[in-house]
This record gives sequence, structure tokens and C-alpha cells, in this order.
Amino acid sequence: MVVINSSIAEESVSEDTIEQRVHALLGQMTLAEKIGQMSQVNVGDSYIHDYLADGIRSGRVGSVLNVVDVAVTNELQRIAIEESRLGIPLVVGRDVIHGFKTVMPIPLGQAATWNPIIVREGARVAAREAATTGVNWTFAPMIDVSRDPRWGRIAESLGEDPYLASVLGVAMVEGFQGEDLSAADTIAACAKHFAGYGAAESGRDYATTNIPENELRNVYLPPFKAAVDAGVTTLMTSFSDVDGVPATANRFLLRQVLRDEWGFEGFVVSDWDSIRQLQIHGLTADDRESAFEAVVAGVDMEMHGDAYTNNLAKLLEDGRIDLDLIDDAVARILRVKFELGLFERPYTDPVALPPIANDEALATAKQAALQSVVMLTNEHHVLPLEVRKLGSIALIGPLADAPYEQLGTWIFDGDPQYSVTPLEAIRRLVGDETELTYLRALKTSRSRDTAAFDEAVANANAADAVILFLGEESILSGEAHSRADISLPGAQAELVKRIRQTGKPVVAVILAGRPLTLSNIVDHVDAILFAWHPGTMGGPAIADILFGVESPSGKLPATFPRMVGQIPIYYSQKNTGKPPSPDTVVHIDDIDPHAPQLSTGMSAFHLDAGYTPLFPFGHGLSYAYFDYQDIRASASEIRLGESIRISVDVTNTSDIAADEIVQLYIRDLVGNVTRPVRELKGFKRVHLAPGQQITVDFQLHTDDLAFYGRDNTLITEPGDFHAWIGGSSAADLRTGFRVLASD
Ligand code: BGC
Repeated sequence: MVVINSSIAEESVSEDTIEQRVHALLGQMTLAEKIGQMSQVNVGDSYIHDYLADGIRSGRVGSVLNVVDVAVTNELQRIAIEESRLGIPLVVGRDVIHGFKTVMPIPLGQAATWNPIIVREGARVAAREAATTGVNWTFAPMIDVSRDPRWGRIAESLGEDPYLASVLGVAMVEGFQGEDLSAADTIAACAKHFAGYGAAESGRDYATTNIPENELRNVYLPPFKAAVDAGVTTLMTSFSDVDGVPATANRFLLRQVLRDEWGFEGFVVSDWDSIRQLQIHGLTADDRESAFEAVVAGVDMEMHGDAYTNNLAKLLEDGRIDLDLIDDAVARILRVKFELGLFERPYTDPVALPPIANDEALATAKQAALQSVVMLTNEHHVLPLEVRKLGSIALIGPLADAPYEQLGTWIFDGDPQYSVTPLEAIRRLVGDETELTYLRALKTSRSRDTAAFDEAVANANAADAVILFLGEESILSGEAHSRADISLPGAQAELVKRIRQTGKPVVAVILAGRPLTLSNIVDHVDAILFAWHPGTMGGPAIADILFGVESPSGKLPATFPRMVGQIPIYYSQKNTGKPPSPDTVVHIDDIDPHAPQLSTGMSAFHLDAGYTPLFPFGHGLSYAYFDYQDIRASASEIRLGESIRISVDVTNTSDIAADEIVQLYIRDLVGNVTRPVRELKGFKRVHLAPGQQITVDFQLHTDDLAFYGRDNTLITEPGDFHAWIGGSSAADLRTGFRVLASD
């Protein structure tokens, strides 16, 4: 839990004082100045336009975004402090999503670490670096649950699961905001996009979302609730239409849920121009109505747009809105400015902060990348590669040496000059003992030009092992970069098949911004390391794993489908009235020609894809082997309000020390609304020495079993529960317990 202005920080301003100062300041403000605080202006340049300087001077601008030149931010603050009537400092926003200059893995990759400590540390590094420029507010974390890998922004998300996204989202908030938001090296966080954005139809960015309220509350809202409870200072609305009312005008979300039910005291910013877009959605006829809908719903600040600037005064004058509404919005914004300590410390001295891309930052980036790599397959233990046994290795593929691409999407400030590529890192690691050849083979991941394939095959033939660097460039994921076909683009699958024919051991390292469908290559390579877009230090992390310096330990934060038609496919699905099983599934090729109607089981599967994914949520192999035994519950029955301990013994049966992520899933067998077949309720990253056995315990309170029921209130129902512990969502070691009503 982030305690803003905690007593630990002696110089912080106490909450009481902040409230008094907010109200005192509000009392002095003109209406124009109030509306100014609600307006955020895009800077985008490193010089100051007259209109911007005038706007700040006259109190018509409360916030700016997209300026990272410290001389400019300091000058803008100076104008605000010294030349505006009330001297209110600016809140300076920027998308610092997974690092600033030093780039961590994309958030989806960070989610594969299942490690809140490294995720928090990554956000700390990002905050420290961003703060050197005068940025004091990041538009992160993005905690939209997404179950659709076609959606380009799944890269920015923490995956498909509400619990994992909640834990890691909170870690990011804590990392950005630190223990004292007013410190020079902490910045305000912004949980986005409230809410439901990740459910865009067919994964097409900005498309409509249709989420029943019960699903919204049980799946999409929990990460936001967790972020609010952790003290996140701001939220951003979603671009999308939620059940007929775009999120930016959604009173149910922004007033009822966020403010009335959760008691959020920070402020809400629109997404980029999303207030004016209410008209394009077809909700309003003009900007005035858009401003009305947004402000009434509870959008406190408009990001890049002038619907508020041009219309709020008139709405007030016409009696459409009350001044209280404006005052509440402005108070929220001022409160965050006070909490940030901007009135005391508006200027930035970059020299007083740690240098960019320092050793500690790079070490964090490497650790995060190391823990994010997921080993999907490893046939015949081809990995780790042994340098001593390999005279020569062929590195082939478009992503072995792509310093910019490995950084991934949303890296406005990410600096490829700090990137260490896999090629560079492998060269360093293997030294002179092993001969390395490198061929890009395809100009880009999308290229269909196979002209270089003969040379690639020749390189493979001449080598003892081949490492293919495949995947997607960063441009293929991220905002407005959705795909309908999520297999390896271009001629990459063909490259794999050609290399396979050489008979050499083939390892595929895949760099990508989303889960891909890998059915067409999975049987043509001996091992797959899925490295996401691993960031600045992706190369050394991948090299260490390839050559066994470290064991892979990442686990999938999202299900990998066999084919795109299975989407949405996720582990915590509902059972249905006709759940599929191995006995009911018939493949389309096996339909009995004599009795076609009888031969297929009547259950919920696809004739051509079955019902299982290629790789389940939570999956990830290690060089070590972990044996799970003796799952047990501390009691067979507990009462509502009590806790139970679920334990398991885990043994590392190998001679390799490694991390394992131990996962606890439960199923509530009967609910007044149907419950998922499994739900993640706990996880622990543990380190086991060779032969070591440990007991891993999870404490579950009956509140942890709560869900939103038929009337959409939070309840825990008495009844029977199953619990599984294992190394993925397919774990089969199970126990159970009963929850009884309280006395
Ligand atoms: C994105 C936001 C982002 C904003 C500012 C929008 O297009 O949806 O996530 O924070 O731009 O760059």
C-alpha cells in the first residue's frame, strides 16, 4: 500500500494541510482559472510557443504532456509559478510505460516474471529517469485485462488474469509513486484505461466493448480497485464504448463505481481527445454536449482537446451544471499537485538525480528480462546449449540484432543506444571458442522475400546448432496495431521449415508483443524461448538463458491459442452446460463418414482446434524439474470470516538451481452466478537448490473467495471449493475444503 506523504518523509506535507491549502486556493480562483486546471495541453516540441506561454500565464493551462526537455519543463513551471496570478505549478505528463531511457520488458513480458518485486523496481527506475526531465506524472500502469492477443495493446497490459494484473499493477503504482510522492524521484501514476478497453471486439483497437456488468465487476475492474486501494493518484478513461456509453461519459463507471463505491480521491483524466470523440461515437451532437457528458460523468481533466476550455463556462452560465462539479474536479487536481510537492519544489535539477541508464538501472532491466523469458518447449533437452560442445553456431533471423525492435511498443524515450542485442551478448558470452555466423535472412519479420534462405541453410549446415531469432517488430503491437492473424508474419515459418531440413538442433527465440499462434512451427524446432520484447538488456538475458548461466523461469501471463479462431481462449473460462473432455472431442478429419451425426461428442469444442490451447496460462518450463506432492488444506471446513492454509511440497529433483513460480488456483463449485473453472488466488516465486524440498503455503481468507453475485454485490457463499497448486493453470494436484456460514 502506498502511503502518500507518510510520516517517514519528514518534509512531506500532512493530509490535513493539503486539504486546507486546496480549499484556500480554490477560494481565490476565478472560473477561468478553475477551468484552466482542468485542461491539459500537448507540447510536443522543445521550444515554447507563445500561445502556450500565454495560456499558462493566464491560468488557462493546468497540465502539459509530451515535453521531456528539462530546460523547457523548468521554464514552463517558472511561467506558471512566477507569471500566473496564483502561481499554481503544472503537472507534466508523459507515457513512461515500461521504462524511460532504460527500457524494461514490455508490461506483458514483465507480467511473465510473476514477480512484483522486480516489476516495482522497474517502475522505480523509470520514475527516477523520467523525473530528471521534469516529468512528474506517467500514464501508467495500463491494467486492462485482455483475453485477446489480436489486440495490439495486450503488449502494454499485464495479461488475462485479474489477480495477476492486480498484484503487478499495484507493484507498478508503488514503483512510480514510491513511499513519498513529494520526493524528487517519484512521479504520479495513472491507472488506465478505465474500463474494459481490453475487451475490444475482435481485438481491433478502439472497437466497441460489450461486457455484462457482472463480468465487468468480476474480471475487468479488480485491478483498478487494487490500484485505487494502493493509492494511485490518477485514472485515465478508456476510448471505448462500454455497453452503449463510451467510458469517457460513463457515469456508472466514473461516479457510481469509482467515487461512490471505491471512494477514489485522486483525479480522472480523459484519454487523448476522447471528450470530443464522444460526438464521433454518436453519443453527443457537439463539443458542448461532449463536455457536459464528460464533466457530469466525472472526467476532471481533458487531455489534448478544447471541449472543456470552450464550453464549461457556458454550461455553468446556462445552469446545466453546478459550480460544485467544477470545484470538485479542480480540488482533485490541486490535491495531486500538493501531494507531488510541486508547490514546494516545482523545478527539476537533473544532476541531483541518479544518472540515466546507470549500472543499477541496467541490472534491473537485465533481471526483469531474465525472469520474463518463458521456455515454451525444450525437446530432448536441447537447451541449455553447451558452449564447450559447440564448435560453431548459426544465428539466423531478423530479430537477433535489432536494438530498437527489442525495446517494444510505447517507448517514446527509450534509447536504443543502450540496447544490448542477442547477437552482441552471445558473441561476448561464447568468446573465441565457438565460431558464430549471423544472417538476418529476412529484412523484416514481415518480409516474404526468401532470396537469402539458401545462404541461411548453408550457414545452418555448417554449424553444430542453429538459433533462430523470430517474431514481430515493435511496430506490430501497441496502440492501433492489432492483427487478425497472429502467426509469425512474413516468410518466417517457411524459414523455420527450411532450417529444420538441415537436421541440426534448432532453437527459436521469439521476440513479440503478444502471444502468437505457433502451431505451424512448434514441431519444427527443438526448443522455443518466448522473450516478448525484452527491453534494453534483452540480449544478455537471452544469452544467459540459452547457455545455461540462468534457468528460464517466466510463466505465461496469457493463454497461447493454437489458432486465431479459438480467441477468446483463457484459463478461467466458465464450465458451460456441456464441458468438453478428451472423450467428447473429435477432430474434423476423424468424423465417421458412415455416422457423421453420432461421431462427434456434443460439447463445447472446435472440430478443427479442440478446446485446449497450445500453451496454457501459467505455463513455462525450467532447466530444473519440480515435483509437486502432498497438497493439503489446514482444515476441511472453515467458516465465513476465517482463513485456511493450502500447502504443497515442492522438490527440485534436478541438479540445477532454479526459480519456480508456484501457483494456487481455486474453483467455487456452486455460485449464484456461475464461477470460472479455475481462478488464480496466489503465487510465489521460489528458488530451489538442486535436490532441495520446500513447503509452499498459501493463506486464503474467505474474503479472497468473494465474487460479485447475481445482484452485483460482493459476496462469499458457503459451499465447496477445489484448490490446485502447481506450475501452471493446468496443475492437477488438487485438494478441497468447505466454507460454512458464520455462526
Ligand atoms: C493512449 C493513452 C496515452 C495517451 C497519451 C492515447 O492515445 O490511449 O494510453 O496515455 O495517448 O499519449
